[in-house]
Amino acid sequence: MSLPCLSKNGGVCFSWPGTSGGWRLLFGRMERFKMTGPYDEKGYELDLFCVPKHYEEDLDRVIIPHGLIMDRTERLARDIVRDMGGHHIVALCVLKGGYKFFSDLLDYIKALNQNCDKSVPLTVDFIRLKSYCNDQSTNSVKVIGGDELSTLTGKNVLIVEDIVETGRTMETLLSLLSECNPKMVKVVSLLVKRTPRGSGYRPDYMGFEVPDWFLVGYALDYNEYFRDLGHICILNEKAKVKYKV
Ligand code: IMP
Ligand code: MG
Repeated sequence: MSLPCLSKNGGVCFSWPGTSGGWRLLFGRMERFKMTGPYDEKGYELDLFCVPKHYEEDLDRVIIPHGLIMDRTERLARDIVRDMGGHHIVALCVLKGGYKFFSDLLDYIKALNQNCDKSVPLTVDFIRLKSYCNDQSTNSVKVIGGDELSTLTGKNVLIVEDIVETGRTMETLLSLLSECNPKMVKVVSLLVKRTPRGSGYRPDYMGFEVPDWFLVGYALDYNEYFRDLGHICILNEKAKVKYKV
């Protein structure tokens, strides 16, 4: 069975054939492990979890179960409040893929605000970007909606994104945002894909480092489908054809 492990810069990492070792979470304890050869790291069998009936034929494996996403998000909320506490934060949701993570992260921050000495006043903003068609990046990042970025001048902005792959989307957004002179900008991304196409960009906070697969669920889509799936899963090849545009 696949086990997540902690990566060097704090995200929980899923390793795959070719990696050589790291840390893994075993029965609630972090322990060091060494991989001696190819490691079968392909997530979980689909029938171990509940998935919507209408997607049962479309998915290969569950890569990150919903419960694990929630637990990791709770910890990210704590880290963000620790670092940004005392400041007013504008949480900027990158639509559409970021909406689930945004909503759950903010719920955890709100819970901390109610239960801790240190609290963070929060307001929200939204931007809609598009860079993908089918399972391929189009090499262009388009802003196709959202609030005026100029309202962020002088603010502490927390950008909330679903996944960083090449890093192009985030670099484009950061450069647009810098024209509006915000006071501070931090980025939290639930996922960071380990890919040779990456620009080297790393967000300030990340949930999980994942292999170079096309992932769906928890608001990550394939041509708008699979946002209504709770777990993060791998799509099968048949489904890529079925939902192709
Ligand atoms: P980047 O610009 O290559 O970093 O890509 C980031 C954007 O591409 C994300 O905001 C997603 O919208 C989309 N994306 C990248 N990888 C995936 C994936 O595996 N599934 C769904 N969307 C993805
Ligand atoms: Mg996105």
